[in-house]
Formats: sequence, structure tokens, C-alpha cells
Amino acid sequence: MNHINKNLPNLIKAAFENDIETVELSSLNIIRALKKEDEDTAKKISALLSNYRSGASLTRAFGQEPVPRDEEGLNSLVKLENNEDFSSKIFLSKKYEETIDNFLKNREHMEKLIDFGIAPSNSLLLYGEPGVGKTFLAKYISNKTQLPLITLDLSSTISSYLGKTGKNIKEVLDYAKRSPSILFLDEFDAIAKRRDDSSDLGELKRTVNVLLKELETWPFDCILIAATNHPELLDNAIWRRFDLKIEVEKPDKSLRLKLWKYYLDRGVVEINDDFIFFLSSTLTDVSPSDIEQISSSSLQKQIVSGGSIETNTIKSIIETNVISEHNLKKKLVVALKKEYEKNATQRDLAKLTGFPLSSINRYLKEEE
Ligand SMILES: Nc1ncnc2c1ncn2[C@@H]1O[C@H](COP(=O)(O)OP(=O)(O)OP(=O)(O)O)[C@@H](O)[C@H]1O
Ligand SMILES: [Mg+2]
Repeated sequence: MNHINKNLPNLIKAAFENDIETVELSSLNIIRALKKEDEDTAKKISALLSNYRSGASLTRAFGQEPVPRDEEGLNSLVKLENNEDFSSKIFLSKKYEETIDNFLKNREHMEKLIDFGIAPSNSLLLYGEPGVGKTFLAKYISNKTQLPLITLDLSSTISSYLGKTGKNIKEVLDYAKRSPSILFLDEFDAIAKRRDDSSDLGELKRTVNVLLKELETWPFDCILIAATNHPELLDNAIWRRFDLKIEVEKPDKSLRLKLWKYYLDRGVVEINDDFIFFLSSTLTDVSPSDIEQISSSSLQKQIVSGGSIETNTIKSIIETNVISEHNLKKKLVVALKKEYEKNATQRDLAKLTGFPLSSINRYLKEEE
């Protein structure tokens, strides 16, 4: 009974203060304590806990309750999407595919976890370079859990509402918590970055503290996802608060193969598998977003002007400028000769790449 006694005053106080988060946490503690002695009551409490908010979404019929706005009421602070029709294919690295699957499974079995007095994980920190798919992953999770995605871009909130940041963020957090949803904090490092800036240090410190407290007590039926390109800027206190931290990495070769195939082979023209293989093994430092961009630019050329898909793709690789590799043209020519068209003459290579014959000659000579 000891545990229950300890939690009861907290529970009652929280109930009077309308502090839902503490009500949830104290109830979980009580479920755990009761589980052995009085399973019936434990079950009853856990049913209450799992269900009391299930009607809540009715109070925010999707897109009807106004989203929080800045003081002048002009700009909405968040973007609201339901992602019901997110049907894009997502290719996940083996390294974290299982973590994501488990996270989703946990959400499905939330009530079972609560039955045992175990809080389901609900916070996720995604970090990695631009274009690796952090936002994409948040949308995917929103689709799979059928929860609306509420996006708050912290970098714009902080810079454009200087002085009112704390109030704005608090408003968004309250809005997100009101019914089951995913709050997506994009550019999360904006919070940390500005901590060195003395001009609004006090305000930002307060904001960070508000956020940390919220993270601890985020309601079970809400998910919080944060994304950043600069994990090194987040301090330990923030880092520790997330249940799961996932490094979204650039794709390895097998994933690059799937991505090139998916984005380039769209029924416009037939694509030689060897060419997909050549792209995946030659361009090693690309993000899914680079692959998507090069492929669509190349298919546009193909549809509008015809020609060969190989030439169009190589043109797009050079033009889109997403690969900052020293001597990219030479690398492409050498790899083509070695791995794709072994019997090609210099003239063939010039035709295939669209590069002048003299350059082809020079690249191959330098390589010998
Ligand atoms: N795992 C993936 N599978 C398939 N396509 C992907 C994947 N990841 C990213 N993409 C493609 O790349 C695009 C850009 O990805 P996204 O915007 O999610 O990157 P990001 O990590 O959020 O980048 P940033 O840090 O710049 O915000 C997506 O719209 C999608 O077309
Ligand atoms: Mg993003």
C-alpha cells in the first residue's frame, strides 16, 4: 500500500489543478502498485487511463479548432497535416528500421503497456544531415499512427517572434496536447544555438526549461518528434529526455540501389539495371533527397527533349550540383569505362556523357 499512499496526495492535488500529466503519471504508479494485490481495480484504472482522452479528438475536429497564431493573429505558428494519404514509399536503413517498427508496435499496444503500469515511449529525436529523410519519417509515422502532424519550425519561431518566443511555444505545446497528435519540432537545434546569444538569454533559458518539463510529462497519446541537423548543439539535459534517438544516415549501397530504382524507373523509359548499379556504386555520398532530385530532373529532360536516359542523368548530376565531389566529371567517366561500358571508345563515352572528346581523353589519360 505504501506506493499508493505516496501517490494519492499527488493525484488529488493534480486533479484539482487540472494537471493531466501528473494525473497520468501518478495513476501509472498506482496501477503498478495495485497489479498484484487488486488486479480488478488496476484494470479499471488502466481502462480509464487509456480511454479518457479517446473522445478528445472530437473537441478538435481536424482543422476546425483554430491553430495558434502570433500576437497580431496574422501568422499561424504551426502547420497542420493529417497525412492520411501519405503513400510515398519509404526506404529505411536496416539499422533503424526495427527501432521504428518497434516504436509503432508500442503505440498499437499502448493500452496493454498501461495495463502493466508501463509508460509507452512517445518521444523521438531524429538527427542527420539535410535531405536524409527526417521530415519524411515524421510524416510516415503520422500516417502509420493516424495522428495529425503539427509542425513547429523553431528556427522561424525564434527569429521572427523574438521576445515572445516563450509564450508562443507554450501556446503551441498546449494546443498539441489537447488531443492525440504528433508535435514535430523541426530545426530543434535553433533552441540550443541561440543559447550563446546574450541578447535574449533569459527568455531562451525559460523556453528551454518549459520544453524540458513538457518532455518529461508529454501525454501518452501524443507523440513528440524533434529533428535536427546539428545534434552537437543540443545539451545533455535535452538529449536525455528523449525516449529514442535515431541517427538518420545517408543510404548505404543496397539502399541507394533501391532508391535509384524507385525514383528513376517510373515507366518513362526502360532503365538498364547496370546503369542503376553504376549510379549506386559511383555516387557514394548522396542523400535520398539528392537521388530524388537528380532523377526527377533527368526524367523531365527525357520527357521534354528525348535522348538517352544515361546522358540525361549524367547531365542532371552535374547540373543539380548536389554532389560536391572534387573532379566529379572525371570520376563519372572513369567509372563508366570501368563498370558500365567496358568496351566503349572515347567517342562513345563523349556521346554518352555529353562531355567534349578532349576532356574524355584527358580524364582517361590521367587515370592510366
Ligand atoms: N527513406 C526515404 N525513402 C525514400 N525517399 C526519401 C527517404 N528519405 C528522404 N526521401 C526523399 O527526400 C526528400 C527530402 O527528405 P526530407 O525533407 O525528409 O529530409 P530532411 O532530413 O528532413 O532534410 P532537412 O534536414 O533539410 O530538413 C523527401 O521528400 C523524399 O522525396
Ligand atoms: Mg526536414
